This record gives sequence, structure tokens and C-alpha cells, in this order.
Amino acid sequence: MAYETLIVEVADHVALIRLNRPEALNALNSRLLSELATALKAADSNDRVRCIVLTGSEKAFAAGADIKEMSGKSFVDAFTGDLFGPDVEAMLRVRKPIIAAVSGYALGGGCELAMMCDFIIASDTARFGQPEINLGVVAGIGGTQRLTRFVGKSKSMDMHLTGRFMDAAEAERSGLVSRVVPAKKLLEEAMAAAQKIAEKSALTVMAVKEAVNRSYETPLREGLLFERRLFHALFATEDQKEGMSAFLEKREAQFRDR
Ligand code: CAA
Repeated sequence: MAYETLIVEVADHVALIRLNRPEALNALNSRLLSELATALKAADSNDRVRCIVLTGSEKAFAAGADIKEMSGKSFVDAFTGDLFGPDVEAMLRVRKPIIAAVSGYALGGGCELAMMCDFIIASDTARFGQPEINLGVVAGIGGTQRLTRFVGKSKSMDMHLTGRFMDAAEAERSGLVSRVVPAKKLLEEAMAAAQKIAEKSALTVMAVKEAVNRSYETPLREGLLFERRLFHALFATEDQKEGMSAFLEKREAQFRDR
């Protein structure tokens, strides 16, 4: 399918989705968000895809929600149209892992989009921020909630209240990103991580994603029980037998996703 605001390629079991509005530093307008929801859903249901990489350009992952498009909206427009609600909910339903490969600006909705992915690999040029306060609004795609869980209350408050940007080193130090790589190697590293995930049992990968995400939704005791039951359930799979036999036989596991 051809998109106006995205470039999508599928190769070697990985769907690479690039945000492509260079004229607006990949600002998230309604067209882009709806195309992204469609592309993610398509990748999720494509049997050839086992992992998804979401990236932007070297200058910007995304500089936020599209301010030009939003500026004239009234409360009634935003509320009755459920601004950002449906597309964001659609993204959260994706069951395959999504890696955000972030270079340059990831601001406002761009930072929030990266945080909705399963983990973030950042280039050393990445800059994260929630500068909505400068526009007279608060974050609207989860920033106040997710950034706080990632970096803690103090730093989250600092970012949201001052609108300052965080560089890649600070983002790694504070747990927002999983690793920082040189800008020139960003895509290579993200694709290598995606390939590694693609080699695992898709069944187990899905279970890991559910279990880790559950830790955000439940008290610890419930999350631990959920994890333990998933762990028990996976003993019903052929991939558990194969994975453990391969270890004992000192060979590579051949997973069959069942
Ligand atoms: N929306 C719409 N257009 C944007 C944009 C945005 N969020 N960010 C950048 N652009 C556009 C600029 O208007 C400019 O377009 P023109 O050439 O037509 O004027 C083009 O992208 C290039 O931007 P700049 O000239 O500003 O580039 P720069 O290198 O000087 O500055 C920047 C880069 C610091 C990222 C700056 O563009 C900026 O501050 N952008 C806005 C960041 C922001 O406030 N993001 C939060 C948006 S609100 C939000 O996201 C709400 C939410 O939580 C859902």
C-alpha cells in the first residue's frame, strides 16, 4: 500500500516504517497518525513480519503533534473528535514488538510516540522533550504518564514544566532509552536488534511483550501472577521443548512458533 506520509519496507521478517514529512520535521498530523495506525496494523497481521522498526529522519524522529493543524481547534472539536484517541489506541493493540530508532528531535507527540514503542534505540544526536507547556497545553499522547514511569517524577516534572530538551546521554542515564549508538549506525543497530528478535519464537516474543507491558497496568502481585501463569502456559508449546532441548544438546534452537 502507498502512503503519503510514511515509507514502509518489509525485508527479512522486519517491517521498517519511516515517518516521512520532512517539510514539517515529521510532525504528527491526522493523516500521518491514521496512516501509521494502518501500517502498524498491516505489519501486525503480515505473516512475513516478526518485528517492526519505527524511525524518522536524521534531523527528526518527530517534532511533535502538528501545531498548524491543531492550533485552530476548539475544546468541542478536540473532545468530540477524540483528538489522538483512536489512532493511539490502534497502535497499542499491536502485538508484535516495535523498536523506535530515534535520531534528532523527538518532542511532544514525537517523544510520546517513541515511548509507545517497546523500546528505544537512540542516536547520539537524539533530543527528547515535552515542550507542550510552551504552547499552553499539556502532553496529549501519554507524556505525563509514560515519561514519569520511565524517568521518575522529578525529571518528568522538570521536562514537562520547563519544556527543556534531554540529550541522548541523559536519556540513556535516566532509563528512557535502552542504548545510544552513533547516528550513522542507528538504523543498522535497530535492524540488527529486530533481526535478533525475529529469530526467536514469535509465540514467546508475544508473551514477553504482554508480560512486560502488564507491569505498567497492574500492582506488582497481580503482575507477578500474570507472569508466572504465562511461564506455566508456555510449557504447553513445542517451542519450549525445542528451546530447552537445543540448549541441552548444545545446538541452535529451530523455533516453529507453536
Ligand atoms: N508542528 C508543525 N510544524 C512543525 C512542528 C510541529 N510540531 N515542528 C516543526 N515544524 C515545522 C516548522 O514550522 C517549519 O516549517 P516552515 O519551514 O514551513 O516554517 C519546519 O518544520 C522546520 O522547523 P524549524 O524551522 O522550526 O526548525 P528548527 O531546526 O529551527 O527548530 C525545533 C526545530 C526545535 C524542533 C522546532 O521546530 C520546534 O520547536 N518545533 C515544535 C516542537 C513542539 O513544540 N512540539 C510539541 C508539539 S505539541 C504536542 O506534541 C502535543 C501532544 O503531546 C500530542
